[in-house]
Amino acid sequence: MAVTFHAVRSVPKVANASVQIVTTDVVSSGVPGVDPGQLENAGFEGKAKQVHTWPSGGRVNALIGIGPEADADLQSIRSASATIGRTLGRNRRVAVELPSDLSLTDDDMRRALAEGAALGAYRFTSHKSESESLKLSRVDVVGGAGARKQAALDLGAAFAEAQMLARDLVNEPGGTLTPPVFARRTAAMARRSGLKVKVWDEAAIKKGKLGGLLGVNRGSTNPPRFVELIYQPSGKPTGTVALVGKGLTFDSGGLSIKTGQGMMTMKCDMGGAAAVVGAMSALSTVAPRCRVRAFIPMTDNMLGGDATRPGDVLKIRNGKTIEVLNTDAEGRLVLADALCVASEAKPDAIVDLATLTGACMVALGPKIAGLMGNDDTWVGQVEAAGSSSGERVWRLPLPADYKKMVESSVADMKNIGGPHGGALTAGLILQEFVADGIPWAHIDIAGPAWSDSEEAEISKGGTGFGVRLLLDLIRNFEPVS
Ligand code: BES
Ligand code: MN
Ligand code: ZN
Repeated sequence: MAVTFHAVRSVPKVANASVQIVTTDVVSSGVPGVDPGQLENAGFEGKAKQVHTWPSGGRVNALIGIGPEADADLQSIRSASATIGRTLGRNRRVAVELPSDLSLTDDDMRRALAEGAALGAYRFTSHKSESESLKLSRVDVVGGAGARKQAALDLGAAFAEAQMLARDLVNEPGGTLTPPVFARRTAAMARRSGLKVKVWDEAAIKKGKLGGLLGVNRGSTNPPRFVELIYQPSGKPTGTVALVGKGLTFDSGGLSIKTGQGMMTMKCDMGGAAAVVGAMSALSTVAPRCRVRAFIPMTDNMLGGDATRPGDVLKIRNGKTIEVLNTDAEGRLVLADALCVASEAKPDAIVDLATLTGACMVALGPKIAGLMGNDDTWVGQVEAAGSSSGERVWRLPLPADYKKMVESSVADMKNIGGPHGGALTAGLILQEFVADGIPWAHIDIAGPAWSDSEEAEISKGGTGFGVRLLLDLIRNFEPVS
């Protein structure tokens, strides 16, 4: 059940728990109404991740530390609030006081608080025969100034809800979330959210000459799908943003098969598609002024008897050919087709999200996404959305002279580069399928789409990374002139 957030003036009598988010500075100068001796005996100094709880009447009180005031940012608030979701989730109704000593706006803090508390309470229990369900259903956010008290809370809740849909999709096993099932769930979401939807079935995909998607699908008994979504704003659109998401419902590597270890998390290979679907699901609530179109290729990468063989050549939608020398470099093949279809819609800008390369994880580790693109202004908007949403991206180059690495002697290009710079050669291949003149950004989320552990607002398994970034990007979109 979804948690709701309410802006209130004082801690309601009926709250089951009452929380204060505090810095080390506040704790050392004394928390109003709390006995300093109690905190000293408990060893609570207000450091990040420290929690101190004590009963009072029928209620539990809690202090959650965020460290020194000088280091506090919106991520500190998101992270502390996730602790509320996680550790106080058995309380039905929790009140949280907005910290008043930080140089952050109260509305920004409200949004981060709602995001953190909702995401921290996330559980994926669809396949558990028994699971303890959290009772948390209402968070009262006490105090603070700001012009859009309730609106900021509602926005954070909507962002979190969208991100949790993405998590649910990623966490669903590859054997149950097949491309047709993924497409059906996406279409059902679209109808609920007032989006237009078009699902291409296998016949339509063949007719549309999506040779990359068909080539990757060839080893599978599950048919592919290609899903389009459209959000139309109520007024005159300020422009059109196209979202593209890699939707590999499972990546075995194909004939260039992965190791058992390498395959264990490969249900996450539709993390880009899940982020796009999640973001689209929130647009009717977030109500941006631009039009948004989504293009999502869906298939798994299997190794049936007629699977694409290393050495095979595929012809992509725009007529360019790719020699497949490693069937595990399949994401770029399906994205090539999707970027062609997206380009045909003549959007003002394109952004794609994909769990594309292990090389990107080598470069940036598990929590930061790689960002590439052909237009500094558009890439700059993506970087800004990364900062404001707390979903970190880091720019990587697309060096033109590296295109040599993907030259093929039999086709227009091959699908792998040399031993080094794998995130960049993958990006260079994608760039070939973006029509000239369209600003395009590519976000490689191979690292952050999945997490092996819980941390702050991040849950174990699918993280839904990219949803908040996309929503901020869309909300603040300005056509690149
Ligand atoms: N889906 C993988 C990339 C990936 C790896 C995502 C780990 C998340 C975690 C992608 O399809 C892949 O297999 N890429 C290959 C490309 C290589 C064969 C050029 C890779 O990175 O090893
Ligand atoms: Mn692969
Ligand atoms: Zn893959």
